[in-house]
Amino acid sequence: MARKYTTVARLRNAQLLREYTDGELGITLRFDETVESGPQAPLAQPYQLQDGKVIGNRFAVLPMEGWDGTRDGLPTEYTERRWTNFGKSGAKLIWGCEAIAVRHDGRANPNQLVVQESTLKSLEQIYNKLVDTHKERYGTTDDLLVGMQLTHSGRFARPNEKTRLEPMILYHHPVLEEIYNIDPDLPVLTDAQIEGIISEFPRAAKQAQEIGFNFVDIKHCHGYLGHEFLSAYSRPGPYGGSFENRTRFLREIVSGIRREAPGMRIGVRISAFDMPPFRPDESGIGEPRIFEDENGEYPYGFGADPKDPMQAKLDETFRFIELLKSLDIELVNLSAGSPYYNPHMQRPAYFPPSDGYQPPEDPLVGVARQINTHARIKERFPEMAMVGTGYSYLQEWLPNVAQYNVRNGLIDFVGLGRMILSYPELPADVLAGKELDRKHICRTFSDCTTAPRNGMISGCFPLDEFYKELPQAETLKAIKAEN
Ligand SMILES: Cc1cc2nc3c(=O)[nH]c(=O)nc-3n(C[C@H](O)[C@H](O)[C@H](O)COP(=O)(O)O)c2cc1C
Ligand code: SF4
Repeated sequence: MARKYTTVARLRNAQLLREYTDGELGITLRFDETVESGPQAPLAQPYQLQDGKVIGNRFAVLPMEGWDGTRDGLPTEYTERRWTNFGKSGAKLIWGCEAIAVRHDGRANPNQLVVQESTLKSLEQIYNKLVDTHKERYGTTDDLLVGMQLTHSGRFARPNEKTRLEPMILYHHPVLEEIYNIDPDLPVLTDAQIEGIISEFPRAAKQAQEIGFNFVDIKHCHGYLGHEFLSAYSRPGPYGGSFENRTRFLREIVSGIRREAPGMRIGVRISAFDMPPFRPDESGIGEPRIFEDENGEYPYGFGADPKDPMQAKLDETFRFIELLKSLDIELVNLSAGSPYYNPHMQRPAYFPPSDGYQPPEDPLVGVARQINTHARIKERFPEMAMVGTGYSYLQEWLPNVAQYNVRNGLIDFVGLGRMILSYPELPADVLAGKELDRKHICRTFSDCTTAPRNGMISGCFPLDEFYKELPQAETLKAIKAEN
């Protein structure tokens, strides 16, 4: 039986919210009681990068793919609609648009976009659509920054069949191998294979630059290849073991991009901390599968305390960001964990996706964990431009928490994921001082994750009229009823 938590919709005023978070949950979640609008509002303040580029406000759209490209890696009308909505949102930082594979074997699903010669024209069209839409609505794109997220899916690659994992791993992780049915004798990627993957990123960055993107994100989050490097403690050779070796992937890509695409900005989205994988217990509630090595430590969590892996330990995260700084990388997007093995911490939700588990904690605890941990990182690096993640579950309170965090320098940009799928124009409405459109507030039903986990396109089926009308909405209802 699922545990019941107080829904955010019931926390109708500041006192109720404060009593619930400070009292019942015992978490720190600060917010402003009144949200300001107009040019002086904290969320409307521009942010100037060190190279002089101005980003017009403090909202960022987080990357979100739709499992809706063609088998050839081209965007479809669904992709175009999502990117158009990103442009409409009013956010001035569009972080990555969505994960785009640098080559076929790195696709997370057979419908993921690929950046390669044959897809450039179409990628340019949807990029232009995003930018033109923004210009039509908001008059200018001079203060808009749009990136392309470059990825290789590594352990979570499914390039050919939605149901067939074709993992490319750096090291053996016994718990993930058990959960995902991965052969414990699967050969790990060779150093030469890694070099081949690295060589794709500068080429892809050059292509993104030619299209007009303002930066590329070298994805280091959510269990995909870049993130896996950071925890490759047990891998021998030049790409594992020491911190220097585990960040060689990043450093080689950065130097390649500097050489092949001079002037292209680089950003990094990172899972700043992690936890062990979670699986449902006999009542369906998530519980951690903690693996201990011969020293009694969990050896696979980047940003997790090996002695107590449910707690963040940020020494290496700080070191990583120090490294980014030394590489002249100013744009950092902070996320956490993985949507596959610990979704409750990565995207806190009241209703879990079909491959997930009932939340083991009030989702507000997960929100506060990300906000407060990201704030600790921001505090150490005041000169870096940092995007925070994990705000959608705040629902009606999102603008209040966002404003508090930006006003107090806990973060520079408030990143929005699912809320943009259900309510693309929330940033514009907040900045204009409009009352929120409550029927489009994301209630974390997780259909946008459940649908692709069942081989379908992603979208906000419950709240977005466009997706509600699609035949897939009925199929999804039937799948959910069966579960
Ligand atoms: C449908 C969907 C697709 C996503 N695709 C990506 C992606 O391509 N790249 C990425 O870094 N994160 C991806 N994410 C994670 C989001 O960027 C974000 O971290 C997460 O949803 C938590 O933010 P939220 O609480 O505002 O939704 C995706 C999330 C969802 C729900
Ligand atoms: S399907 Fe819609 S309401 Fe549900 S989590 Fe996704 S965006 Fe939010």
